[in-house]
Amino acid sequence: MSCLQSWPEPVARVQHLLDSGIQKIPECYVKKPSERPSFIESATSDLNIPVIDLQDLFSDDDSLCQTTTNLVASACREWGFFQVVNHGIRYQLMAATQDVWREFFHLPLEEKQKYANSPITYEGYGSRIGAEKGVSLDWSDYFFLHYLPISLRDEKKWPQIPVSCRELVEKYSEEVVKLGGKLMKVFSKNLGLKENYLEEAFGGEGNIGACLRVNYYPKCPQPGLTLGISPHSDPGGMTLLFPDEKVSGLQVRYKNNWVTVKPPPNAFIVNLGDQLQVLSNANYRSVEHRVIVNAEKERVSLAYFYNPRGDIPIKPAEELITEDNPPLYPCLTFNEYRLYIRTRGPCGKAQVESLKSPH
Ligand code: OGA
Ligand code: NI
Repeated sequence: MSCLQSWPEPVARVQHLLDSGIQKIPECYVKKPSERPSFIESATSDLNIPVIDLQDLFSDDDSLCQTTTNLVASACREWGFFQVVNHGIRYQLMAATQDVWREFFHLPLEEKQKYANSPITYEGYGSRIGAEKGVSLDWSDYFFLHYLPISLRDEKKWPQIPVSCRELVEKYSEEVVKLGGKLMKVFSKNLGLKENYLEEAFGGEGNIGACLRVNYYPKCPQPGLTLGISPHSDPGGMTLLFPDEKVSGLQVRYKNNWVTVKPPPNAFIVNLGDQLQVLSNANYRSVEHRVIVNAEKERVSLAYFYNPRGDIPIKPAEELITEDNPPLYPCLTFNEYRLYIRTRGPCGKAQVESLKSPH
């Protein structure tokens, strides 16, 4: 049987390990010393990823709009990560959606187990990424669901309790996907492509892949030994993350250091994924990031993945290919591409780097 049919070991829910009163984390969560978080203040501790006000992006004043577009362009090149404020998503809806998910994770285990996932689709309640026996485990549980394409949306797989969950996810998704579409236009323009290029390459409006992973990071009795999510780049197109404002945890790799993101209120954190690195022929790069956990507070984050539809071949845009800039990556569908992380778990930037065709 392929290792993608079922999990290779019994799945422990991290939250319930904690509730059982353990003082030491099980061995399978302990990272090698070189991979453990360092809590020593580094020289980069004042750095923060750029915060961009999107208010002017759709103003009638072209020069205001261009200024914002340029800010996005330089953040994409310098960091591959930025935060957005005045993004058009209702704050109340963001907060309510986060609250409802926090409530979900606090339901009794039996209720959550109704949605227990398998590595076939990852949909539902999960506690590991990577289906190979012996992959390193991270200190988090999650819930994963599809919103687009419609053919993959199945609300019956979304939590029935709390009762407002499905409706909130629906509304939240609609707004986040709209913001994602706007950003795709900005990226296309900034790359010198026609405005709809990236959206169309992803499958066209309403036909892209959009999925939500709600991450739940329980408190951890030994936060210095483990990670909430190991270093990885997101395999898809772009991620729109609503972090937990009360608890920091996300760290971004920047010039060989880890920079902790300090989100302003109601901001989204946007990062580029591997598919944009491929489509842009490495004009844009996905960036490695990880999550640290802590002993005092749990953390909930909502990661929205804006991806190509799974069955569409993705390759570097021809407009960006010249004799001096040959295509760096082969053509692959996203379904083929994401098998790697789904099999091996988070592996830094190993996958996208390994794809580079030898020229
Ligand atoms: C992810 C991710 C970061 C966070 O879900 O891919 O990187 O802060 N999440 O939860
Ligand atoms: Ni990520």
